[in-house]
Amino acid sequence: MSRLSIGIDIGGTGIKGGLVDVESGEFVGERIRVLTPEGGEPEDIATVTRDIIEQLDAPLTTPVGVAFPSAIRHGVTMLAANISQRWIGFEAEQFFENALEREIHFINDADAAGFAEVKFGAARDRDGLVIMTTLGTGIGSALIYNGVLIPNSELGHLEIDGVDAETRASAVAREREGISYAEWAVRLQRYYSHVEMLFSPDLFLVGGGVSKSHEQFLPLLDLRTPIIPATLFNRAGTLGAAALAAGPN
Ligand code: BGC
Repeated sequence: MSRLSIGIDIGGTGIKGGLVDVESGEFVGERIRVLTPEGGEPEDIATVTRDIIEQLDAPLTTPVGVAFPSAIRHGVTMLAANISQRWIGFEAEQFFENALEREIHFINDADAAGFAEVKFGAARDRDGLVIMTTLGTGIGSALIYNGVLIPNSELGHLEIDGVDAETRASAVAREREGISYAEWAVRLQRYYSHVEMLFSPDLFLVGGGVSKSHEQFLPLLDLRTPIIPATLFNRAGTLGAAALAAGPN
């Protein structure tokens, strides 16, 4: 039996959407990707999100999950690292529900991606503490313990060597500074050793578009914790948002 749900993944660079069969974790029909409007303002992002949902042309009763690059408490976005500062302390869930004229399930983007990897991807059936990190425009994190998501971890903003970790160790930081994978791996080593010391996880998962090039940097890391690439790549946030919106069974 298939259960369908819409997933939307809003990022600092792109906004993705798709209709998902949440039993199989497969997309049904086309996936849509649009560039995030310059400045990342709430109205512009809501308009793009609405357009994507209209294009998906699913019945109005289809659950909608929206993943967003911020910690979210009771529907309020708490910070804004790569989008407009207006999102800080903003009633975002209500704002999206008004703009889309339907209820949504609203979650952090890395939490959605981590949930998808545990449900459908690289960490399927892995017990214990799985820490997913997404290396993209920023660094997102998800803590999943025995399949249960502990939301809003924000480990990309750990202060390491006096700076916000994501400003040095994200994939975009590597591109911006034009450094090699080997030079970047030194920064990742510092980052993951610190997270390992704090949490003693059972598994690290590395997601974000750059995880496709994992052979260039993961073998250079020396950690006690196994560290493996995510397998859903840039589909993870959308799949996880859809799965969380659908709820259990
Ligand atoms: C945000 C997180 C987000 C991550 C990845 C960070 O800058 O604070 O909420 O998960 O970027 O998009």
